[in-house]
Amino acid sequence: MLVTRKAQDKDLDPMCKLVMLSTPFADPEGVKHYVKRHVNDFPDLCFVSEDDGKIVGVIVANVEYIEDLAVLPQYRRRGVASDLVNSVLENLRLRGVRSLRADIISDDVTAIRLYDKMGFKIIGENYIVKLDNGAVKFLKERGEEIEPMWDVWLPKELKGTSYWLSKEKLTALKANNIKPVIVRSFILMQKEIA
Ligand SMILES: CC(C)(COP(=O)(O)OP(=O)(O)OC[C@H]1O[C@@H](n2cnc3c(N)ncnc32)[C@H](O)[C@@H]1OP(=O)(O)O)[C@@H](O)C(=O)NCCC(=O)NCCS
Repeated sequence: MLVTRKAQDKDLDPMCKLVMLSTPFADPEGVKHYVKRHVNDFPDLCFVSEDDGKIVGVIVANVEYIEDLAVLPQYRRRGVASDLVNSVLENLRLRGVRSLRADIISDDVTAIRLYDKMGFKIIGENYIVKLDNGAVKFLKERGEEIEPMWDVWLPKELKGTSYWLSKEKLTALKANNIKPVIVRSFILMQKEIA
């Protein structure tokens, strides 16, 4: 029987295997590190779906956004992901948190449909980009805050040079003939929690 329950340390290995389904480009060691950190730091915001002892779905979240959501292919379209997202929303409500964000790879139509059905609205677009020193200098001189990507999560070839950039900042760079390499594009969706 399918049950949704809070994740525990003993679930870490199957959780990480599932997480790699939604972010296949991530560094597996980095995934282990942040999943463990989330389960320890946000035990009320990380859940698994279990079918007779087998982990078939996972959600890893914090007080701002959903880090990962994935369901084994053979268990999809049965409401598993919706239950996982609802479990996080319920506990955020208990914490008094007013909104939850999900950053979805732009071509992941399935996940966008899921979040849309659950009442999440598109609030923007963001990119993982490789910036050289010239681009970093340009943005800093304009007083723009730029957010380096959390290296632990990235594959080796992207560590050290990757940033999390809004569409607006990317447009400003392009207008000044600086063309950073776009590694991934994301749709940002957010749900207000009543
Ligand atoms: C996205 C994902 C988590 C959905 O899991 P799921 O358990 O199948 O989702 P649910 O059964 O709760 O679906 C809820 C709604 O989402 C939409 N949806 C889900 N899968 C869909 C699909 N393949 N095609 C169209 N709509 C879909 C539907 O509106 C569905 O409602 P319905 O079944 O009543 O029509 C799953 O497909 C998955 O693990 N994908 C790979 C990893 C991934 O993309 N993660 C998201 C990262 S942000």
